[in-house]
Amino acid sequence: MKKPIKGFSKLSKEGKIEWLVNEHFEKPEAARALLEEYWHTDEKKQQLHDDFIENTVTNYFLPFGVAPNFLINDELYTLPMAIEESSVVAAASKAAGFWLKRGGFKTEIVSTTKIGHVHFNYYGSVETLKTMFEAWKPMFFEETEELTANMRARGGGILSVELKDKTDVLENYFQIEARFETCDSMGANFINSCLEQFAQVMRADVMSRDISEEDKNLQVVMCILSNYTPECVVRAEVSCKVEELNDDKDVTPEEFATKFKRAVRIAEVEPYRATTHNKGIMNGIDAVIIATGNDFRAIEAASHTYASRNGQYTSLTHCTVEDGIFRFWIEIPLALGTVGGLTKLHPMVKLAHELLGHPNSETLMGIVAASGLAQNFGALRALVTTGIQKGHMKMHLFNILNQLEATTEERDAIVAHFTDKVPHHNLVVAKFCELRGIPVPRSDVKKDS
Ligand code: MEV
Repeated sequence: MKKPIKGFSKLSKEGKIEWLVNEHFEKPEAARALLEEYWHTDEKKQQLHDDFIENTVTNYFLPFGVAPNFLINDELYTLPMAIEESSVVAAASKAAGFWLKRGGFKTEIVSTTKIGHVHFNYYGSVETLKTMFEAWKPMFFEETEELTANMRARGGGILSVELKDKTDVLENYFQIEARFETCDSMGANFINSCLEQFAQVMRADVMSRDISEEDKNLQVVMCILSNYTPECVVRAEVSCKVEELNDDKDVTPEEFATKFKRAVRIAEVEPYRATTHNKGIMNGIDAVIIATGNDFRAIEAASHTYASRNGQYTSLTHCTVEDGIFRFWIEIPLALGTVGGLTKLHPMVKLAHELLGHPNSETLMGIVAASGLAQNFGALRALVTTGIQKGHMKMHLFNILNQLEATTEERDAIVAHFTDKVPHHNLVVAKFCELRGIPVPRSDVKKDS
């Protein structure tokens, strides 16, 4: 049985690896070699990565792809996407190309407010609490002046503070609910610092009052921003005449529009489908969020809460076909930062921001929403026409042909050969070798994927 280790975090990186490989691996030297192989060759860059988190032993690579031709509010973007799943970047690029010829994506910021709470218990009279809250309100602003100075200079800060009686859902439970504008930063540190200062104001004021012991009985449970940001929302939309919809020969534009709308409707009413539908949306969203150094866990959490806001989990996208116009849109909470966090630290994140032309947080919200909408459009388009596997296997075939550096003629011949067959890696290599009249490499004889 393995033994727990004491003081692991105090060990040097080499010490951590030494313990790790000896304790957990059958071939310690092979494990050590692999961990070290993934270190950055530039020591300074490696140190940067080491310092992002605790107990770093190596790096974990994700492919960083790009999806060009995203026309968003009449500006052309190439989207950075960090993701491990094949077909996602291809689907985004294809959808971007499709809408490029049909006016592109239009985005609109619905709101940018973020919310945080001081969660507390109160055992005294609610009337006394209300009176105290009126006194705290100006103090919340005054006592955080230093903390909020920079944010106020940028046009942000604390927007409002409210006392919320939550005793209908939990005994003695109250909140100070505060709204914030955090401009181009995601704002977590700013919000949490303000909330902790509010709590200090509350504790100190209660203690200084000449009131009964019961009325003084206030316990702050926690001070924390909410990752649910239904007031920090962006909308992205594509639309065109139905007749302009499809370039697929197998289905008329009208049939496509009807089936597509039906597929969205199914996701609106059926949580099983909505989950997969929204997962596809998050394929696009998370990939851009990770590439731009934002917190994809926060975005995921907010999206799914938002998708359930009316009591049932539902689609994040919607579609109408009215008066010959096809309209498809997403509305999603996206609390993003373009300053702070990793944005000025991680070299690839910096590159991603430069690639996007250094967007501010509102522009990035629109770009990310468009990536989610494009992804969902691509998935639904495939699902209601050819099915999802065809595109996936085609992508897979193209990947193999690219690896083999097949010529255009060879590509055409092999694609034609596999029209009605599954392009397993070894079969593609065998066909390629047959065309070239060369023997199949030994490593490919048994290889399958
Ligand atoms: C796969 O990662 C995503 C899809 O399942 C999304 C969808 O079904 O809409 C293709």
